[in-house]
Amino acid sequence: MYKAYYSLARTPFSKDLRPSEAFPSTDYEGVQQALSYLQKTRGIGLLVGEAGAGKTFALRSFKESLNTSLYHVVYFPLSTGGVMDFYRGLAYGLGEEPKFRKGDLFRQIQQGIERMAEERKLTPIFILDEMHMAKDAFLQDIALLFNFKMDSTNPFVLILSGLPHLKTRLKLNHHRPLSQRLIVNYEFQPLSREEVTAYIEHHLKVAGAKMPIFTDTAIEAIASRSQGWPRVINNLTINSLLYGFQLKKEHIDEEVVRLAIEAGGLS
Ligand SMILES: Nc1ncnc2c1ncn2[C@@H]1O[C@H](COP(=O)(O)OP(=O)(O)OP(=O)(O)O)[C@@H](O)[C@H]1O
Ligand SMILES: [Mg+2]
Repeated sequence: MYKAYYSLARTPFSKDLRPSEAFPSTDYEGVQQALSYLQKTRGIGLLVGEAGAGKTFALRSFKESLNTSLYHVVYFPLSTGGVMDFYRGLAYGLGEEPKFRKGDLFRQIQQGIERMAEERKLTPIFILDEMHMAKDAFLQDIALLFNFKMDSTNPFVLILSGLPHLKTRLKLNHHRPLSQRLIVNYEFQPLSREEVTAYIEHHLKVAGAKMPIFTDTAIEAIASRSQGWPRVINNLTINSLLYGFQLKKEHIDEEVVRLAIEAGGLS
């Protein structure tokens, strides 16, 4: 296996990477700061970025940083089920038995949030991922659902996350009620050229690498091909390790990366 060949103790870029093992990119740190600000102010925040930019990973790190005796996190990726399933999921997440009709369910969610804040002294934090998939009517519902006591208090934190066109959509007139209430509005940028190098080295070190495996030109090729998006970097680096091992290359050079790009259908 390539792991033994390159003296790696574990699989690099594994899905179970701990927050303490995160690469501290400008945006990773920026998002953590923006979310901890939102945690203090409460209310609604938006986090957008291209596919594989690191949104879900950053949200998971934020979630794991929270004190569970003060915050109750309800994480919901929108890809599962329809809109009513989603509202039922929010009610369940608040420990309620979901009501049948939408109007009742709405009131139940609002009361559930208030009860949690007032009686249990817990701030619910809703993390709604993959929100670019939400229909317009649903985004409009959210503005109503998370409207408390004439907006004078926010007993909750709501984080909406998704691809960049979610931000574009929220700029449209009919989404003003929601977009005007955004306290935090963060967009991931790709990793810089220097960050790509540091990112790859970081992941390989976390996996146990003792010495450099990639040549500078190989990293340059990955940086330019990936345009700085983490998931593409992950895939290219892993494919390069597989090819490097097959070809018995002690160091992975540009040629190996080129093969990895072609093999991964990424060319
Ligand atoms: N700061 C970081 N440190 C270490 N690894 C990271 C970091 N940011 C992203 N990654 C890596 O990039 C991968 C993709 O990130 P993630 O799944 O969070 O992207 P995403 O923006 O949610 O993408 P999508 O829009 O497709 O859901 C993660 O599995 C992780 O390996
Ligand atoms: Mg994601």
